[in-house]
Amino acid sequence: MKFFAVNGSPRKNFNTAQLLDSALDGVKDVLQDAETERIDLYDIPFNGCKSCFACKKINGRHYGRCVYNDDFKATLTEITQADGVILGSPVYFGDLTGNMRCFLERFMFPFLAYSRHEVVEHKKMPVACIYTMNLSKESSYEMGYHDLFDKYENVLTNIFTKPEHLYVYETYQFSDYSKYVSDLFDEPERKHIHETQFPKDLQSAFEIGQMIAKKSLK
Ligand SMILES: Cc1cc2nc3c(=O)[nH]c(=O)nc-3n(C[C@H](O)[C@H](O)[C@H](O)COP(=O)(O)O)c2cc1C
Repeated sequence: MKFFAVNGSPRKNFNTAQLLDSALDGVKDVLQDAETERIDLYDIPFNGCKSCFACKKINGRHYGRCVYNDDFKATLTEITQADGVILGSPVYFGDLTGNMRCFLERFMFPFLAYSRHEVVEHKKMPVACIYTMNLSKESSYEMGYHDLFDKYENVLTNIFTKPEHLYVYETYQFSDYSKYVSDLFDEPERKHIHETQFPKDLQSAFEIGQMIAKKSLK
């Protein structure tokens, strides 16, 4: 069995990446023989949907599949055939990162049938979404982040299955705050959150991985 974590952060060792790794550890905890892989989207030169509509063409050779023949095609095909997928993205300007959006366009659109009668046959794998952000829980609700997350998750639900999710707030943004202009933030408080809350978030990510593994067996 194969499980993917898709990292929508350009950073490969910070909050999102660590949470995704923990989720994959959770998968392995349940399914020792499972193969797990983290895809770092910012390592791959790729674009989002180019609106060619080959995936919707009547009797088309590529109906229900992304025809875009780029460096990402093989990996995208593998992810769509996985037994479980865990997506992780930081919030950038109140949304997912650009590369995560590009990924979701390619991951989801081919499976979205433009029809009341036709369906696109594909694997309905368990999915999870992990979001990391600078804002606090209260501010993120005030800013409407969760409405947006729900919007993405509704599409994922329609195509795959209802995602598990984890929101991680007030992340530690740099490894050394003294090197950056960052007086907007209370560094000791952030450090405290990082030392007390982030380990719990890692544990929650681990448990999400366990759930994805268990769901894949149903
Ligand atoms: C370009 C950019 C834009 C950001 N915009 C937001 C934002 O709108 N809201 C927010 O809460 N955090 C924002 N952040 C902070 C990141 O979401 C947060 O630090 C996240 O945990 C980073 O994930 P990483 O450590 O995995 O890279 C932004 C960070 C960057 C670099």
